[in-house]
Amino acid sequence: MEYRTLGQTDLHVSRLCLGTMTMGWTSSKEDSFAVMDYAVEHGINFFDTADIYSYWAEGNPGGVAETWIGEWLQSRQARGKVIIATKVRGRMWEGPDGEGLSRRHIIRAAEDSLRRLQVETIDLYQSHWPDENTPLEETFRAFEELIRQGKVRYIGCSNHTAAQLQASLDLCRAENLPCYKTLQPHYNLVHRAEYESELMELCRRENIGVIPYSPLAGGFLTGKYTRKKIPRHSRGYGSDRMRPYMNELGFAILDALRAIARQHKATVAQTAIAWLLANPTVTSAIIGANTVDQLVDTIKAVDVHLTPEEKARLDSLPSPT
Ligand SMILES: NC(=O)c1ccc[n+]([C@@H]2O[C@H](COP(=O)([O-])OP(=O)(O)OC[C@H]3O[C@@H](n4cnc5c(N)ncnc54)[C@H](OP(=O)(O)O)[C@@H]3O)[C@@H](O)[C@H]2O)c1
Repeated sequence: MEYRTLGQTDLHVSRLCLGTMTMGWTSSKEDSFAVMDYAVEHGINFFDTADIYSYWAEGNPGGVAETWIGEWLQSRQARGKVIIATKVRGRMWEGPDGEGLSRRHIIRAAEDSLRRLQVETIDLYQSHWPDENTPLEETFRAFEELIRQGKVRYIGCSNHTAAQLQASLDLCRAENLPCYKTLQPHYNLVHRAEYESELMELCRRENIGVIPYSPLAGGFLTGKYTRKKIPRHSRGYGSDRMRPYMNELGFAILDALRAIARQHKATVAQTAIAWLLANPTVTSAIIGANTVDQLVDTIKAVDVHLTPEEKARLDSLPSPT
C-alpha cells in the first residue's frame, strides 16, 4: 500500500479508502466485518462513512454503517489503525433541524456519530452536500466548536461546486474559522466534467486533499456490465443506475481499459482505479466492496502504474457524463 498526506492535514492516508455505503444495504454484517478485516490487514488505514448510510435500503434507518464500524473497531481494538471520515447533512430525525448544516443539526448529529462509532474524535467530518438554507458562517461556527472540543479534527466537504468551495474558503479566511481541508467529489472515467471543469484546478491551487467517490462508477468500470447484459446481484440490476453509462461512450472506455489492463496483466477494475490514482490531485480513491473477493481484486490497483501514453489515451476518451 502507498500513503499520501491528506491535503494540509497531518493525516497520512492509504491511497485507497474503504467506502462503507453498502454496509446494511448490499453487504451483510458478516461480509462487512470481513471486508474491514481484509482492508486493514492489507494496509488500508482510511474508512469513509456517513450518518445516513444506508437509509434508502429497506429496513435500514440510517446510522447502520457507523454502528457496524464502531462495533468492528471495538471488537478488533483497531481505533489506532484507522482514520475515520464521516459526513453530516442528510435527514437523521424528524423536525426542522433533522437535516441540514445548521448549528443545531450539526452538534446533535456529531454527538450521535461519535456514539455510534464509539470513538472520542472524528478524524474528518464532511458536509455531505451544501445547505443553501443555512448561512455559511453558522455552519463553520458549529464546526469550530466541535474542533475546539476535540470531537472533530478536520473538516471537509462533498458534492460542492467550485464556487461553493471557494466561497467557504473565503469566509473561513476572512473570519479566521477552520477551513475545509478535503473535497469528496463524484469522479471516475465515465463521470469527469463535474470535477475536471473547475474543481480540479481549485484543489490543486489550494492544496485541498481530494478523495473521489465511486471510482468504479458503482461497478460499471469493472467491465461486468456489457452491451448485452446487466449482471444479476449487482447494483445496476433492476434499476436505472447504470443507464447513463450503458452507451457507446461508456463501452468505448471499457474497451480501452480492457486493452490497457491486458498489458499490465491487471483487471479492468484495477486499471480504472489506477487511472484515478495517476491524477496528481487525487489523494485517495474511495472504493466500495460488498465482499472480500471484490476487495482482493480492487486493492491491487495500487500496483498498476499506467505509462504516460496509457493515461493520455484514457484522458482523450470523451466521458458520457
Ligand atoms: N459523498 C457522496 O455523496 C458519496 C456518494 C457515493 C459514494 N460515496 C462513498 O464512496 C464509497 C464508494 O462508492 P461506490 O460503492 O459507488 O464505489 P465504486 O468502487 O465505484 O463501486 C463499488 C461497487 O462496485 C462493485 N464492485 C466493486 N469491486 C468489484 C469487483 N472487483 N468485481 C465486481 N464488482 C465489483 C460492487 O457492486 P455490486 O456487487 O453491487 O456490483 C461495489 O459495491 C461509498 O461506500 C461511500 O463511502 C460517497
